[in-house]
Amino acid sequence: MKKLLIALSLFCVSFGLNAQQKSTEDAKMEKFINDLLKKMTLDEKIGQMNQLNWGDISDSIKTRVRNGEIGSFLNIYDPVQVNEMQRVAIEESPNKIPLIIGRDVIHGLKTIFPIPLGQAASFNPQVVENGARVAAIESREKGITWTFAPMLDISRDARWGRIAESLGEDPYLAGELGAAMVRGFQGKSLSDPTSIAACVKHFIGYGAAEGGRDYNTTNIPIHLLRNVYLHPFQKAVEAGAATLMTSFNDNDGIPASGNGFLLKDILRNEWKFDGFVVSDWESMREMIPHGFAKDRKDVAMISANAGIDMEMVSETYPDYLKELINEGKVSMTDVDNYVRNILRVKYRLGLFTNPYVDTKKASATYSKEHLQTAREAAIQSAILLKNENVLPLKETQKIAVIGPMADAPHDQMGTWVFDGEKAHTVTPLKALQTEYKNINYVYEPVLKYSRDKNTSDFEKAKKAAESADVAVVFLGEESILSGEAHSLSNINLIGVQSELLKAVKSTGKPVVVVIMAGRPLTIERDLPYADAVLYNFHPGTMGGPAILDLLYGKANPSGKLPVTFVREVGQIPMYYNHNNTGRPPQWIPKLEDIAIEAPQTSLGNTSFYLDSGDKPLYPFGYGLSYSKFEYSNLALSTTELAMGGSLTAKVTIKNTSNVDGTEVAQLYVRDLVGSIVRPVKELKGFQRVSLKAGESKTIEFKISTDDLAFWGRDLTKKAEQGDFDLWIGTNSADGLKAKFVVK
Ligand code: GLC
Repeated sequence: MKKLLIALSLFCVSFGLNAQQKSTEDAKMEKFINDLLKKMTLDEKIGQMNQLNWGDISDSIKTRVRNGEIGSFLNIYDPVQVNEMQRVAIEESPNKIPLIIGRDVIHGLKTIFPIPLGQAASFNPQVVENGARVAAIESREKGITWTFAPMLDISRDARWGRIAESLGEDPYLAGELGAAMVRGFQGKSLSDPTSIAACVKHFIGYGAAEGGRDYNTTNIPIHLLRNVYLHPFQKAVEAGAATLMTSFNDNDGIPASGNGFLLKDILRNEWKFDGFVVSDWESMREMIPHGFAKDRKDVAMISANAGIDMEMVSETYPDYLKELINEGKVSMTDVDNYVRNILRVKYRLGLFTNPYVDTKKASATYSKEHLQTAREAAIQSAILLKNENVLPLKETQKIAVIGPMADAPHDQMGTWVFDGEKAHTVTPLKALQTEYKNINYVYEPVLKYSRDKNTSDFEKAKKAAESADVAVVFLGEESILSGEAHSLSNINLIGVQSELLKAVKSTGKPVVVVIMAGRPLTIERDLPYADAVLYNFHPGTMGGPAILDLLYGKANPSGKLPVTFVREVGQIPMYYNHNNTGRPPQWIPKLEDIAIEAPQTSLGNTSFYLDSGDKPLYPFGYGLSYSKFEYSNLALSTTELAMGGSLTAKVTIKNTSNVDGTEVAQLYVRDLVGSIVRPVKELKGFQRVSLKAGESKTIEFKISTDDLAFWGRDLTKKAEQGDFDLWIGTNSADGLKAKFVVK
């Protein structure tokens, strides 16, 4: 409760309201809503709970809007059409209730930012907020007032295509960045003419789809649900998210759209959420194939009783809700509450007073400022995985630009891009032809796209490399290979890209590999042929200039991995914040060292793979820089922390190189003994620290027992007494260690 009061007062302060003003505003809003509700017929109430897809529009649509049978459209993005539909709703429907217009603006509308997994690699809430702000401004211009983002599904499986849309594997990082995205979309006030309502999705657990196969079953037990999967959603709700969206998956046999424990007990009763919940596309109707509802009437009953306020496109509410209410199977109280939730968001958005798009207002879309913001995001989202003294490049060097991703304007934008225009994408090649035209280069794409298996131009690649000082090979994934319904069982570089890289390296020239992908790929087999690797999760419109800025040292890589890079797809799921098990690995034999007819227990009986050990290729939080950072003098303000108290952890970081740079210092803890087993590490803080060449800084983190609280054996959330380890370091595997006790 204390946290809720703190959140409420912060909410007031951040929105420039004092508590008194806010409660007056709220009272006025609730009165408006209740007065309106009293005038609405049941048909109109059900109409507010009905969202249709604009693409499926028939002539009768205006009639249905005029009759108040539709509360929202998704995928209408022509401001003239939006204004026309709003006009019909406001001037011709019985109670003149405006429409709310939704669209998937996941990482930009026109100016496309790095995919969310890339933005997460920045470990920078401001970068994420800035991107969402630009997206909101460009969306509102089109009449879009609601985006179906942030997607906060914790993702520990790179086979799952939608890992691309996530903020990675860690609940703390996803919570901090998800809240930032909500702030960016919703601005200082939802009623601001550049704000759009956020929609936190997919509630809940979608990223744990078994086998990484999209839409598949999840089996998340309650402690894991509480301690990992729900955490970022709660942070986003606390940040004021206006809406949520339910997920497709059944968790432990219950589809999310029919899960009252989630939608009422947790979301409403515990979190006091007062916005509205929309089902995902057909996810309500899909409870029939799930085997959870016998027919569409059953779907409507289950969903309404579970707490779905608005139905996306499956139209079971308009078809059956009235009948169900008359049969006493759905309560009118529930329906009134659902309509209140919807009207509340529309009211907060200012749609009752300002429903129309000002089509005469100068557009900010693709403005220099927006493009620069996107370029900065792409710079901070890139991760330097390897560099054996070949980067940064010198502008005097001749480079051979090779590979299918060097000039892939569509694919560079990544997944979930409906409105981005490839003509506006600045690819690395285009950046070389414009801003970096002083660079002497030769270009040989060799492959037309990532899946291309045509090796006939490999010789051209080798000749190009031989004619240059350095080969820069752009590899990765087409955008269609990640995103919804795009799971992969093999996450190597697809096609013959690895063979191309090998061929280029056979020339003996230094090779820089630049990867653009929608997921972590298994690139261990490619590393011997790369002297440097710069990894970009599809970097968006300005990815080209950003990559060149990094390759030529105008910017210094600072990105850190928001997700573990496995050595083999067979290691999945592998993530840093795992439990220790009763048999953590002690000794890992090499496969080739195992004796012939080795005795049964000769290899030890602990948890690892005979062929790929127990470690990933790169751990969560990993990322190099052109600078070198040294950590020293980790000191705690106390080693005995009283329950309810806090301690400060200080550390000194020195940039021992001659290059200015930025380090993301990360703080992890381990609760050594708990009423349930606790992860071997948990991220509890991160700071971006900029250090000039040779500069040292002492930074500090504050850790309270609230930060150590978790849902224990008795399913209450609290910190438990006992011993803790604490690390501060450059990634989840390396860091200075200290100990403290919670008394
Ligand atoms: C899709 C996605 C969801 C998206 C919705 C509307 O199927 O699951 O993330 O927001 O439909 O496009």
